[in-house]
Amino acid sequence: MGKAFISGIFAPLIKQGREMKDYKRILVTAALPYANGPVHIGHLAGCYIPADIYVRYKRAQKRDIKFIGGSDEHGVPITIRAMKEGVTPQQVVDKYHALIKESFEQMGISFDIYSRTSNKVHHETAANFFRKLYDDGLFEEKETEQYYDEKAKTFLADRYIVGTCPVCANPNAYGDQCEKCGSSLSPEQLINPRSALSDAVPVKRKTKHWYFPLQNYEPWLKEWIIEGHKEWKNNVYGQCKSWLDNGLQSRAMTRDSNWGIKVPLPDAEGKVLYVWFDAPIGYISATKELTDKWDDYWCKEDTKLVHFIGKDNIVFHCIIFPAMLKAHGNFVLPDNVPANEFLNIEGDKVSTSRNWAVWVHEYIKDFPGCEDVLRYVLCANAPETKDNDFTWKDFQDRNNNELVSIFGNFVNRTFVLMHKLCGGKVPKLHEDVLDAEDKWIMEEIQNSKFKIQNNLEEYKFRDALYEVIDLSRKGNQYMQKKEPWIVAKSLAENPTVQKSIDNTLHLCLQLTANLAIFINPFLPNTAKKMLNMMKVVDKMLDWENAGKLKLLSVGYSLRAPELLFRKIEDAEVTTQVEKLKSGLVKPVDNTQDEKPVTNNLKPAIQFDDFAKIDLKVGTILSAEKVEKADKLLKLEIDLAFEKRTIVSGIALHFKPEDIVGKQVVVVANLAPRKMRGIESNGMILMAEDAEGKLHFVKPENVINSGSGVS
Ligand code: MF3
Ligand code: ZN
Repeated sequence: MGKAFISGIFAPLIKQGREMKDYKRILVTAALPYANGPVHIGHLAGCYIPADIYVRYKRAQKRDIKFIGGSDEHGVPITIRAMKEGVTPQQVVDKYHALIKESFEQMGISFDIYSRTSNKVHHETAANFFRKLYDDGLFEEKETEQYYDEKAKTFLADRYIVGTCPVCANPNAYGDQCEKCGSSLSPEQLINPRSALSDAVPVKRKTKHWYFPLQNYEPWLKEWIIEGHKEWKNNVYGQCKSWLDNGLQSRAMTRDSNWGIKVPLPDAEGKVLYVWFDAPIGYISATKELTDKWDDYWCKEDTKLVHFIGKDNIVFHCIIFPAMLKAHGNFVLPDNVPANEFLNIEGDKVSTSRNWAVWVHEYIKDFPGCEDVLRYVLCANAPETKDNDFTWKDFQDRNNNELVSIFGNFVNRTFVLMHKLCGGKVPKLHEDVLDAEDKWIMEEIQNSKFKIQNNLEEYKFRDALYEVIDLSRKGNQYMQKKEPWIVAKSLAENPTVQKSIDNTLHLCLQLTANLAIFINPFLPNTAKKMLNMMKVVDKMLDWENAGKLKLLSVGYSLRAPELLFRKIEDAEVTTQVEKLKSGLVKPVDNTQDEKPVTNNLKPAIQFDDFAKIDLKVGTILSAEKVEKADKLLKLEIDLAFEKRTIVSGIALHFKPEDIVGKQVVVVANLAPRKMRGIESNGMILMAEDAEGKLHFVKPENVINSGSGVS
């Protein structure tokens, strides 16, 4: 084996000067979705598809790996849903657990176990975990006064109490935040508080809870994350740093409720574990259920633990759960937490209460046999570094222009021509007539392995998938240059050209075999179809075969081509857009979740850093749409001392004609950047409201263009 192979395989292990350990086994978890509703494509894009790709890739490498998932069946989201549907919490979780599990199976999310937190093993494991921390004296016991709903007979956690905002008089502010003015509130500050459950006026009652003093783990967390995990993705690292910079506080790990895991203490009637205490322990319980050797995966140093999550789960997986594991002792800590950002739909934030979502079980019904297409689009357009937008148009384009026209077309052409020009058998490779093009494609096949692998090791799934498609694009280019169907026309006068035809199709077939290996982690059903066409067994998909040029033996007869992807018609996507819009209901109370309002602050900067930014008031002179870019507007801005062209991603929010003449604040000394071929000189400040709508930031009254802002 050559040198390139060695450096290629080990390169990803050394990153930013930090040598990573060589692990014996890998444990992958994907966030446990709340069983209070079906899963939507944002869930898939956020964590299940990346996790599944990673796991399939590692399985192809023959690594010892376990993939853990399950439903999160406790917490207020479940009890609220039960109340709304007029059923018991158990009925809610039974219904949605089954639906979610089925959706994952159909989408090919290949969990080794998909468990649930209402299981007995989990109740025991979580209760014992709590008990160990309690026995070790690691909780603080505190009695506080909290709002109580006498009608619903329950204490009201922050989101379940509403009232008038003391700042802006919004009558529907929550106990933790006013979504209208953005103020962060405590329930005590609300004017005329009422219960979000029953509308009753709540009373104050004393209640006792057990708090986990996160601040005690702060120095250790700083060392472990800030110093020790600089390789984590920027969005993850940045959020952790911000939480740590702002200082941690004790957090209640119990709740007043009768749905959940009973607090395992004698004087704890009516108290259950906080859902964010029990749910991550669910990963451990599910591993126990899966294998007797669960402790190999959870307790041995040479395990690589990776948590795949969405960005709203970062604090729980990077700070709270690790601190719990550390406090308990004997557990491995995550090596990485590759969290994705959010996927918006057609320019708007996903909102389950407004039914602005694409539900996975409905997609499967509407596009049978197209599961791989959704996997493809969600990976190719994954919100890996920032929030991204899913549109049905982009879904159609990617299917028709990439899967059908590039990948599918290459494989299909190869098979058709092999049947036509080589008798349906793998032709020979004639070394004596190899030309520059042949050598080029051979090299590309070999290089692709390293490119794809390096990206996968670094959790860059989009880039990895791009390389796979790019290789098939090169296959098409190669075929186009060699034109075996034209060469074949001269066979009668010159039979020796058969050698060149053989070489072309031999290499295209070896390339097809490689494409099957490469596409397998991403689109497993497609890889299966390709195996069938090539009449080879699963074993060919082992990663060690990637980059090899002798995967299909000469003389082996292959099947007729099978269509890998079908075209998606305009009508199909228009139907989906209409369905989305017609399902839109008015916003209702946000009783979705039990997460704290995320502190979204970036790490602190010094005044000098801020002073480097030059802000000026400008006036929009003209605005026009940028061709083939749904979101971009090209603006001419008057700054008095000069006129500027600025490209801004606001086209989904404003009509060009509506904004001409408006004043804006411009970051005037931002280095120029090309967007869709247009040089953009600066940036416009925008504010985003809770609905995701954008607003211009501008002076209260019209003032001279070019005025400074500080
Ligand atoms: N149910 C949570 C959510 O949907 C995720 C729980 S992840 C776990 O946001 F770690 F707690 F399991
Ligand atoms: Zn307010």
